[in-house]
Amino acid sequence: MTGIIRFHETGGPDVLRWESIELPEPARDQVRLRHTAVGLNFIDVYERNGLYQVPLPGTPGKEAAGIVEAVGPGVKYVQVGDRVAYSASGSGSYAEARVMQSDRLVKIPDDIDDNTAAAATLKGLTAHMLLRQVYKVRRGDALLVHAAAGGVGSILVQWARHLGAVVIAVVGSAAKADMVRELGAQHVLLSDDDWVAQARAITGGRGVAVAYDSVGKDTFMRSLDTLRVRGMMVSYGNASGPPPEISPLELSKRGSLYLTRPTTFHFTGTRSALSKAAQELFDLMARGAIKVQIGQTYPLKEAARAHADLEARRTTGSTVLVP
Ligand SMILES: NC(=O)c1ccc[n+]([C@@H]2O[C@H](COP(=O)([O-])OP(=O)(O)OC[C@H]3O[C@@H](n4cnc5c(N)ncnc54)[C@H](OP(=O)(O)O)[C@@H]3O)[C@@H](O)[C@H]2O)c1
Repeated sequence: MTGIIRFHETGGPDVLRWESIELPEPARDQVRLRHTAVGLNFIDVYERNGLYQVPLPGTPGKEAAGIVEAVGPGVKYVQVGDRVAYSASGSGSYAEARVMQSDRLVKIPDDIDDNTAAAATLKGLTAHMLLRQVYKVRRGDALLVHAAAGGVGSILVQWARHLGAVVIAVVGSAAKADMVRELGAQHVLLSDDDWVAQARAITGGRGVAVAYDSVGKDTFMRSLDTLRVRGMMVSYGNASGPPPEISPLELSKRGSLYLTRPTTFHFTGTRSALSKAAQELFDLMARGAIKVQIGQTYPLKEAARAHADLEARRTTGSTVLVP
């Protein structure tokens, strides 16, 4: 039997329950993976609370590291005994073990430990999408980064600095501000302050090239106001709730802005796109350009407590659930 977190109805963190299930044998192109570390992501909250609909009962989780225990027919990229990590569009990583498609798995390089891989695969591939694909960041570009001390944010800040960007970070507390300065952000603003005016002042009134907004409802409209003419608004999350509906005229009157709402899985859908992005991420981690911040770990059985802390803005960096 395998221990697994499940929810039978959507709601607050207390809908998450520890249960046991029997795993099937891996079918064609599938593997059975024994998890050693599971990554917590805000999307797990959206699925648990019903913002994103999933079939019930559900098991959250799209990111983990582990060892391949068994392979089904036709598996190409991994073999039994391989140490692997994944960022998968299908949920189910909050489990001691799972059966899943093999084409989402990437081998973990020897110099990266399992907790780090589970903390950085989905989040690092998201940073790759944001900085290298949605908008190709160039040296000197001014970028606004919300939730900069968070899981994705802490990787995004370091990667953006590596690319030579000017990072204007927004965070929720003075302690988080210190952390983000240490990660290399040149300007750190507090979310309770007038960060629109401050970001415009930092850019000499011109505005930022890109605003990376994962907070959504509370910040979306103000993030638009930080952009330069023909700047790009990247709305990629809803930590405070979904962003408002807007008319295209809002983009026109602020200076012919671009607006996009990207999802990582659409940028790593093919094996070659996944391998290329993962290679770039793991190389930067190996070279020390990105130091993954694991702010806290919890036993997997206590996933509800981890969710409550994430939603209450009490976590920093990535969170790892230990099976
Ligand atoms: N589109 C994609 O493909 C994709 C992929 C991965 C993640 N994401 C998004 O990226 C964001 C970050 O994900 P993560 O897992 O790394 O989480 P995280 O950033 O570690 O945690 C969320 C942070 O958002 C900030 N926040 C501001 N207002 C909040 C509110 N009302 N409630 C909760 N948090 C609030 C908090 O930081 P402060 O206290 O500093 O404000 C909080 O720590 C999420 O919105 C997630 O959905 C999107």
